[in-house]
Amino acid sequence: MKAGAPEPPAGRPDPAEASDTAHAAGSAAAGRRGGLLLAPMEGLMDATLRDLITRVGGVERCVSEFVRITDTLLPARVFHRMVPELRQGGRTPAGVPVRVQLLGSDAACLADNAALLATLGPEGVDLNFGCPARTVNRHRGGAALLDEPELIGRIVEAVRRAVPAHLPVSAKMRLGLRDDRRARDCAQAIEAAGACELVVHARLQVHGYRPPAYWDRIATLREAVCLPLVANGEIWTVEDARRCRAESGCERLMLGRGAVADPGLARAILAADAGGADAAAETDPVADLTAADLTASQGAGVADAVPGAAVGLPWTQVLGLLEDFWSRTTHSLEPRHRAGRLKQWLQLLRLRHPEAAQAYAELRTEHDSRVIALRLFGHLPTRPSVGPG
Ligand SMILES: Cc1cc2nc3c(=O)[nH]c(=O)nc-3n(C[C@H](O)[C@H](O)[C@H](O)COP(=O)(O)O)c2cc1C
Repeated sequence: MKAGAPEPPAGRPDPAEASDTAHAAGSAAAGRRGGLLLAPMEGLMDATLRDLITRVGGVERCVSEFVRITDTLLPARVFHRMVPELRQGGRTPAGVPVRVQLLGSDAACLADNAALLATLGPEGVDLNFGCPARTVNRHRGGAALLDEPELIGRIVEAVRRAVPAHLPVSAKMRLGLRDDRRARDCAQAIEAAGACELVVHARLQVHGYRPPAYWDRIATLREAVCLPLVANGEIWTVEDARRCRAESGCERLMLGRGAVADPGLARAILAADAGGADAAAETDPVADLTAADLTASQGAGVADAVPGAAVGLPWTQVLGLLEDFWSRTTHSLEPRHRAGRLKQWLQLLRLRHPEAAQAYAELRTEHDSRVIALRLFGHLPTRPSVGPG
């Protein structure tokens, strides 16, 4: 692909759909389709946010922030620190499994670390072939490997061999670095090496996080492999989910920033799948906006909020989650980092919640997290306030 040049997708039955059906059957909500995964987002989707979002419902599985593997065997405490769910059977408090993501280019070292990780009880191991960060790519990590499908294959194979057969090993990739000419080779290498699932973030490395996402390109990849594919990128609304499924041919979706901006997004998609919220999707004003109207949280600035946008979770409930978030942040972060973390979430919430947009506008220059909390909540929350929803 020359970044966005059109190419007709071709369709054929998705073998993933068989497993989708099985997953959906076990899905908690009314979802007849299910298969909604929460994206790994380093520095954003930590255990606290995973807990809060999975409590809302609709998410079938999470992937942890990446654990960077260079040339050493990490001690177990590093995995426990980054993925505290490992101490709770590899699940969030709401019972949603968390797969642990590794990032690196040294197949042998990744395999050794995966073997250690396997003893800590994760739901599975995921491999990162999509991170666009220069610091990571410079050391041949993440998306930098998309020009080297043979190495990608060796990594997946080594990790697959290093962990017990019952433990799922999956991968996540972008379409390529500067073009998608080797996307098919990468996907085939991942499949041949024994991965059980591949998430495709439908952008190139050079796109960073700029919209749009090229969902139709995932459909062309489905021609080349049989392993279950999961579509990812720019899913902010129920309507986006519908279009992404239609264009990619994938039933299963991974939600990233959209689920942070609207913690009820997964639940709303499941409700729509069950037939309940189709009407809401039709009247959703956001549905008429292009993905470009909602800019990414990274790189380019964040777009203004969308007034009146229908959301999966009403603001009053989001505010409860925010209170909980604030309480936990207060316990886990140094005072000087707390305001930034609150504002980081508000910055995404404002894309879907006008109330968050207003709060963000008022508080963006405020650095005292206590002042921010007082203004947001009218008091200083001291303990978790919201139970499972
Ligand atoms: C702040 C941030 C951190 C990310 N960290 C990771 C990561 O650790 N591992 C990974 O595979 N992808 C990572 N990603 C990419 C996301 O998982 C996802 O592919 C991307 O955001 C596109 O989905 P979205 O448009 O729904 O957000 C990150 C994205 C963001 C915005």
